Amino acid sequence: MKPQVLFIGGLNKSLPEYQRFKSNFECIDYKITTKEQLINDFNTKFKNILAIYGAWLGFVLIGGFKNDIIDNAPPNLKIISICSVGYDPYDTKAMAQRNIILTNVPSDGAAEPVADLVLYNTLTSFRNFHLNTRNFTAGSNHTVHLRRSLESSSFDKKSGIIDLQKDHEYSFGETVINRPCLSPRNHHVVILGFGKIGQLIGKKLAAIGMVIHYVKRTDLSKAEKSNLGYDATFHSSLDSAKFADLVVISLPETPETRHLINEQSINSFDKPFRIINVGRGPVIDEIALVNGLKSGKILFAALDVFENEPSVNPQLFGRQDVVLTPHVGASTVENFDYTAVQALKNIENVLNGSLPLNKVN
Ligand code: GLV
Repeated sequence: MKPQVLFIGGLNKSLPEYQRFKSNFECIDYKITTKEQLINDFNTKFKNILAIYGAWLGFVLIGGFKNDIIDNAPPNLKIISICSVGYDPYDTKAMAQRNIILTNVPSDGAAEPVADLVLYNTLTSFRNFHLNTRNFTAGSNHTVHLRRSLESSSFDKKSGIIDLQKDHEYSFGETVINRPCLSPRNHHVVILGFGKIGQLIGKKLAAIGMVIHYVKRTDLSKAEKSNLGYDATFHSSLDSAKFADLVVISLPETPETRHLINEQSINSFDKPFRIINVGRGPVIDEIALVNGLKSGKILFAALDVFENEPSVNPQLFGRQDVVLTPHVGASTVENFDYTAVQALKNIENVLNGSLPLNKVN
């Protein structure tokens, strides 16, 4: 009998690595419905499972892999191999006590797509493309009229909606609702969290001419700095970087990073600024963020992660100064396949008695 591996979430089954894996292991596809059902299945038909492959989201929708799920895990379960970088929903200590190894896939594959999402949102945040596209409809079917209408209309900061008034004069379109459409060049971006993803974000934003600053507990070494390939200024805390035109968050959730962006820190910025979060949602106090948008201190917010994910503060929907994506920063076919291959290798190594590539606990 081949060793049994449970697959939660999909993967590209035509990958040669999966085909090879399948010849050595019995691969059982499983769709999580409820925690109770999972526990029941662990205690009955999945008693002999040795490894679990957790594709994107894994156990997230049933609150993670912790407490009674760990207590009821199959007795010989040796490894849970997840495809994500973050592993916040997994109780790594309790898993270690049960001799269950957790492996993840570090950000080598995720860095590029996540940095691309930041680049996309950076461009729109300065150029106001989002305000143009959201108001360009069949009802405003005239390029020049829409440009002029957007220029002379007012923006209701409370609702985050433009009160579009028809205006048929000429406009070049260099301002929208009194907000200038700017080149990002020579504007200051402050990147909070400067690991692999933060550094690649810096590279992409340096390429469009932005002035790069980063906030990190300890500075990079000289060698790491010269490997960046662009100039970047270190700040040991956000306190010395309040001149930001744009703040990009690329931080994990920890007790120290939770609500780093709050009412007080938002109001302490020197001037209205833009904010993008591709790290973890709880770094931003979402109520403070909404208040910041309503007061105009925050000009634009692009969020791919949310304080109470998977749900989103309803006040963020419908605002035209907000761009929301449902945690898809890393979601490309290339990264999906890359993480699958890494996750399969982690399982193979552990079940073959060698060390996994990316042990977390
Ligand atoms: C994405 O957010 C990940 O943790 O990989």
